[in-house]
Amino acid sequence: MDGAKEMGIRNVSSICSLTKLDDHELSCLLEKPRLNIERQRSFDERSLSELPTILTRETYDNYDNMHSPCGRSCIDTPASFGGNSFNPHPIVAEAWEALRRSLVYFRGQPVGTIAAYHHASEEVLNYDQVFVRDFVPSALAFLMNGEPEIVKNFLLKTLQLQGWEKKIDRFKLGEGAMPASFKVLHDPVRKLETIVADFGESAIGRVAPVDSGFWWIILLRAYTKSTGDLSLAERPECQKGIRLILMLCLAEGFDTFPTLLCADGCSMIDRRMDVYGYPIEIQALFYMALRCALVMLKHDGEGKDCIERIEKRLHALNFHMRSYFWLDFQQLNDIYRYKTEEYSHTAVNKFNVIPDSIPDWIFDFMPMRGGYFVGNVSPARMDFRWFCLGNCIAILSSLATPEQSMAIMDLIEARWDELVGEMPLKIAYPAIESHEWRIITGCDPKNTRWSYHNGGSWPVLLWLLTAACIKTGRPQIARQAIDLAETRLLKDGWPEYYDGKLGRFIGKQARKYQTWSIAGYLVAKMMLEDPSHLGMISLEEDKQRKPLIKRSSSWNC
Ligand code: GLC
Repeated sequence: MDGAKEMGIRNVSSICSLTKLDDHELSCLLEKPRLNIERQRSFDERSLSELPTILTRETYDNYDNMHSPCGRSCIDTPASFGGNSFNPHPIVAEAWEALRRSLVYFRGQPVGTIAAYHHASEEVLNYDQVFVRDFVPSALAFLMNGEPEIVKNFLLKTLQLQGWEKKIDRFKLGEGAMPASFKVLHDPVRKLETIVADFGESAIGRVAPVDSGFWWIILLRAYTKSTGDLSLAERPECQKGIRLILMLCLAEGFDTFPTLLCADGCSMIDRRMDVYGYPIEIQALFYMALRCALVMLKHDGEGKDCIERIEKRLHALNFHMRSYFWLDFQQLNDIYRYKTEEYSHTAVNKFNVIPDSIPDWIFDFMPMRGGYFVGNVSPARMDFRWFCLGNCIAILSSLATPEQSMAIMDLIEARWDELVGEMPLKIAYPAIESHEWRIITGCDPKNTRWSYHNGGSWPVLLWLLTAACIKTGRPQIARQAIDLAETRLLKDGWPEYYDGKLGRFIGKQARKYQTWSIAGYLVAKMMLEDPSHLGMISLEEDKQRKPLIKRSSSWNC
């Protein structure tokens, strides 16, 4: 039985474009009572005329419209829990309390949140650090709650760390590399606080985090968008920081594809999981960071050169991803019938994908209506796995066309049991098992089937799903997922991840009070209550870029 229907989710037709939202849906989005009347409103919210633009695909990335509101400084109670007319879920207050407990201070100023706050845990590893990627949902929660200071502090502190000389053994990393995480050390004798950062030289596997720099740029734009404070992004050091990050990716070399080549474990999935090459998560974040940088870079000498390169890359990346990473029923059928060993420009099967390499599971998994960006595409290798983060970011950055975005949501509805199950959401689907697990993960005991990165369910992904749902006009899907999470998250102590095909079990080695599980939930709640927050983390289709002629159109049938 169709999982979505079974769980009572309303199927909003995939043919309806973003412009044609059903009236009821739209009024729900617009009329939901606001949690906090006093709360400092985000930039987007102040211009209500912008909300329909989220749904009508008009560009609202207009920096000229921005003005600077006064910020709400850190106070103990969440602004969105002020006892107003609307009665928030009791978990919300608990979540805010836990989020505030995770704050990390440096010389008196909050600079981030600790990855996990778990007293009972003996094996701390690096969970006592502030991770760049983990801080993103915390930052969004604070921005949505009118507390931008901590986000500004974080952005500036990590920018300083970027300036460090980074070495692994005797090898120097690129100047633009951003840390995976940092930690504040207290010296009680000298009464001094110092920071230590990890750029991959301490990380398990010694991989540099390619995603950190992208998240930094994305967060800088979210801060600017939310506060209207242009002055931070315009600072020379921030402009330089953006350029340095992108220089690492825009240099010309031997690449024949516009996608970014990287090592296994360089993003959220930070262990060997066959995500090397051109993984969707990195490509989608790269695309989003390029688009964010484009609106923040100044058109001065160095900025101008960078802007030109960005534009060219975006153009090529957009074409490549929409053409070669997209998979739906029609496309799958085409690949299934591919000829191989084609030579020259006329080749249809450009990457020489051998049909026999298509895994069996995909034939059952692929619905007639729906589609997604596959995990990876490189010569003779297509990773057909579904990765949640990459697909949500593709929607938010408008790397996906409006039709593709709708098709991704259709897929989530049609494959609800597999992708959401009892605890949102699967990081990747399906899991790798047996011999394949041995070869691919290197016998990783943490990444056994349906656990952790190997098909585990991560509550943090809830905020990404919610944002994607709002953008595509399907808030009901997010509501259903949030309801599921609410039945267990607090009771279970905000675990990092859940295990099992349906995500029913608290993860084997999951940390408790994992900050991004807490913040991810809060962000999802706040966005659903006030969809205008979406503007912070979403970019509309760039109209200058010509729409691609579709290779297949199963979402229209
Ligand atoms: C794990 C996750 C990684 C996260 C870190 C801190 O290593 O795989 O994505 O950033 O924990 O929470």
